[in-house]
Amino acid sequence: MKTFEDKVVIVTGGSAGIGRAAALQFAAMGARVLITGRRAERLDKVSAAHPNIEALVADTSNPQDASVTIRKAFQLWGRIDVLVNNAGAGAIMPLAQADAERVKEIFAVNVVGPTLLAKEALPYLTETKGTIINISSTFGSKAGAMLSHYGASKAALEYMTRAWALELAPMGIRVNAIAVGPTETEALTEMMGLSKEDAEAVKHHEIQQIPLKRRGTPEEVAHWIVSFASTDNTWVTGQVLGVDGGLAIA
Ligand SMILES: NC(=O)c1ccc[n+]([C@@H]2O[C@H](COP(=O)([O-])OP(=O)(O)OC[C@H]3O[C@@H](n4cnc5c(N)ncnc54)[C@H](OP(=O)(O)O)[C@@H]3O)[C@@H](O)[C@H]2O)c1
Repeated sequence: MKTFEDKVVIVTGGSAGIGRAAALQFAAMGARVLITGRRAERLDKVSAAHPNIEALVADTSNPQDASVTIRKAFQLWGRIDVLVNNAGAGAIMPLAQADAERVKEIFAVNVVGPTLLAKEALPYLTETKGTIINISSTFGSKAGAMLSHYGASKAALEYMTRAWALELAPMGIRVNAIAVGPTETEALTEMMGLSKEDAEAVKHHEIQQIPLKRRGTPEEVAHWIVSFASTDNTWVTGQVLGVDGGLAIA
């Protein structure tokens, strides 16, 4: 089904996990997709997997990279329809070990980066009546010990989702978010910086809390990213959808 034929999608953090799955689903449905990430090798593997996917080395925490990313997509294909703010940063950080640089880094990736990308994309999204999808977490609303800065940054992203939805509705731009629950990606070892053993212990603990008793797959989350972007869903804006096996309500 070529639902996204001629549409242009940007997915930050598209070289692994949820972003990779979303890029591949959009491309399979006909979209041209620009993925970003910090490591070229991982990006190149994903762009090699589908002819509609192009890759750009860009760091969401670097303010200059926002305009570079948006310009690149426009130069490649002449329009922008969908911005998926997926790249994330986090840490399991007890308050007693709070570190100013780490806190700034989390907010740079989860709050400042999505803001600048959305700002730079605005003229193009206005032209196409496009859409923004922000990737949040169950812990953007559910309290988690040692997750205060990760959770607070995702709470900010969810607030921005609702505020931008109001602000951009007159331009026909929709803004939604997905509050993702524990999903089988490398986030625990990569984004959270845990050892393999600690990551396994966290997974074991999380599964006990999830009503559906398993972690999600990146494809299951990507399905909802694509759905929010679909022109079948143009009456939905300002929403934060939990895709989490029921964790938020447990
Ligand atoms: N997996 C979960 O259980 C879970 C749960 C709740 C929410 N989420 C959210 O889902 C999103 C995606 O997570 P994931 O689980 O798919 O993570 P992942 O498997 O670790 O993949 C992260 C992707 O983002 C890229 N990335 C990381 N930092 C970046 C930066 N500063 N600038 C640009 N790209 C960056 C990574 O590539 P490079 O490292 O090469 O840059 C990679 O492509 C995040 O926002 C995360 O908070 C995940």
